[in-house]
Amino acid sequence: MIEVRWLHLSKRLAAIARFVPQSSRLADIGTDHAYLPIFLIQKHVISSAIAGEVNTGPYRSAEETLKRFALKSQVSLRLGDGLSVLHPGEAETVVIAGMGGPTIINILSQHPRVTQSVQRFIIQPMIATGLVRRWFVSHQWRIVAEDLVPEEGRLYEIVVAEPGCSPHLEDILYDIGPFLWNSRHPFLKEHISLLIRQYSRMRENMKASERAHASSKFSILSDKLEALEARRKCL
Ligand SMILES: C[S@@+](CC[C@H](N)C(=O)[O-])C[C@H]1O[C@@H](n2cnc3c(N)ncnc32)[C@H](O)[C@@H]1O
Repeated sequence: MIEVRWLHLSKRLAAIARFVPQSSRLADIGTDHAYLPIFLIQKHVISSAIAGEVNTGPYRSAEETLKRFALKSQVSLRLGDGLSVLHPGEAETVVIAGMGGPTIINILSQHPRVTQSVQRFIIQPMIATGLVRRWFVSHQWRIVAEDLVPEEGRLYEIVVAEPGCSPHLEDILYDIGPFLWNSRHPFLKEHISLLIRQYSRMRENMKASERAHASSKFSILSDKLEALEARRKCL
């Protein structure tokens, strides 16, 4: 007899799980251990899911976990790059979590017919979330929710986007997050302080090179820092 175990998620994955609509057809891209689909099935939020993974190591670990939780028949595990594992219309909700912003943008861009058929993207970039917000807004997606989750000394950003037009955002809100700002998220000040630290470090490094110092990137970074400081003062 197979022993049924209950999965406990990290705070970060639990926060992502809260954005998955009841009964939606879910795909978790870059699933690694497949914890997210397993948790959502155990909680009866969804009855089945697709889990995509590009690397064989994590693919095998997902296979193992699904076997251990006796959920192999409910999760279709697929080996492949990004959205290539999906047919257009196969998934309503797609989670892409734990990767860098540029990788997420690549995944969103490479299979436009699949991307266009999705009803909701839930993304959690490890870096460069501002780039992904910008990608969404300039590709007819509107940001409908955001969250910040502190865990193990980091602050994770989650962005939820659905098809539709977004009003053009003030530049600095791509970095901060429009919902995080408008809702005065409890971790907003910490989030802005982290951005200030990160951009200051980048600017300091650029000062070492005369060319970098004179570049437009340097002045964009300086403008961003000024805007972030001004926002922080309002809190
Ligand atoms: C840090 S793990 C995050 C796992 C899980 N999504 C989470 O948030 O806990 C990133 C996973 O994404 C996978 N990955 C990276 N690029 C991918 C791509 N283009 N398509 C599918 N999976 C990818 C990696 O192999 C790895 O297993």
